[in-house]
Amino acid sequence: MTIVIPMKAGPDKRLKVAARLIREGKLVAFPTETVYGLGADALNEKAVRRIFEAKGRPADNPLIIHIAEREWLFELAREVPEVALKLGERFWPGPLTLVLPKREEVPDITTGGLDTVAVRMPAHPIALELIRLSGRPVAAPSANISGKPSPTEAGHVVDDFYGRIECIVDGGSTPIGVESTVLDLTGDVPLLLRPGGLPLEEIEKVVGRVEIHPAAKGIEADVAKAPGMKYKHYSPNAQVIVVEGSREAVQKRIDELVQEFRRKGLKVGVMATEEHEADAFFHLGKTAEEVARNIFRALRELDKAGVDVIIAEGIEEKGLGLAVMNRLRKAAGYRVIRVQG
Ligand code: TXA
Ligand code: MG
Repeated sequence: MTIVIPMKAGPDKRLKVAARLIREGKLVAFPTETVYGLGADALNEKAVRRIFEAKGRPADNPLIIHIAEREWLFELAREVPEVALKLGERFWPGPLTLVLPKREEVPDITTGGLDTVAVRMPAHPIALELIRLSGRPVAAPSANISGKPSPTEAGHVVDDFYGRIECIVDGGSTPIGVESTVLDLTGDVPLLLRPGGLPLEEIEKVVGRVEIHPAAKGIEADVAKAPGMKYKHYSPNAQVIVVEGSREAVQKRIDELVQEFRRKGLKVGVMATEEHEADAFFHLGKTAEEVARNIFRALRELDKAGVDVIIAEGIEEKGLGLAVMNRLRKAAGYRVIRVQG
């Protein structure tokens, strides 16, 4: 049975119920400022195994561990370099995940067998309070079936997991809409593994140069350091095609593509920053922040509309745009059309 706890006005005492479930080794989905997480006690092997089972997640794709106090980092990471302290000081609580050498106490299942551990302190008041009340570091991947778009509202979690997990805390829509930025601090230079809710430009202001893993751009790449990158991601049932290039040329090409697919008898959905004629249309908003907040919802809703093809407008890779384009290119299985002009 799944208990759904509505909590849109912010944390309240009903969170104790959810926190007790975490302590008992159960699965609790909860909102963070990025997306909903599917949480369990990170140090409880059995509980973590159930996360992998529920999601259908490959065992070698490690989980992020969520903490409520900065000091908890030292119970998970074997070494905490100066740069990690600096970043934590500046950006936690917030959408930044740090990869560090792991302590033995962290079960291998949680880190997908890696010798490193990914940690973040989320900024959502419900997430923070839930973790604090449970008194446990909480492992939480995005609360979607593996390969599907990440959940940005409790309804998405209900669609994927109702009846299969013990609890869903409904805190309304998640404000950022894309997952956290993942930064590997185990090498000489910080390495961006996944662009996310904290823009790369902000990190560079604090640490200087950051290397970018090729997979972080959402192009096909060698995946040794970024295990999450090799699997199918963010995919709705419909085929997604991304159109990139100068704004005007992109808008024009989208309209042409809609006509082409419709002539073939296909039902076409469009997600873009300007209105388009199509069988289903989702307005993404204008700014990169708005687009980030909307992309996963757009993919899920266009799927529900039963379209065969989704044409998505690409945006500039600045600020949150880098995270948006990484998600879109993956959702499209790297099917990208680049237009000139
Ligand atoms: O915003 C977020 O990060 C959300 C919320 C719930 O906090 N969580 C999330 O988790 O997106 P998930 O499991 O969907 O993505 C975690 C990513 C994966 O790409 C995984 O491979 C990577 O983090 N990761 C986790 N531990 C790692 C490690 N030790 N080394 C390298 N990458 C790691
Ligand atoms: Mg995920």
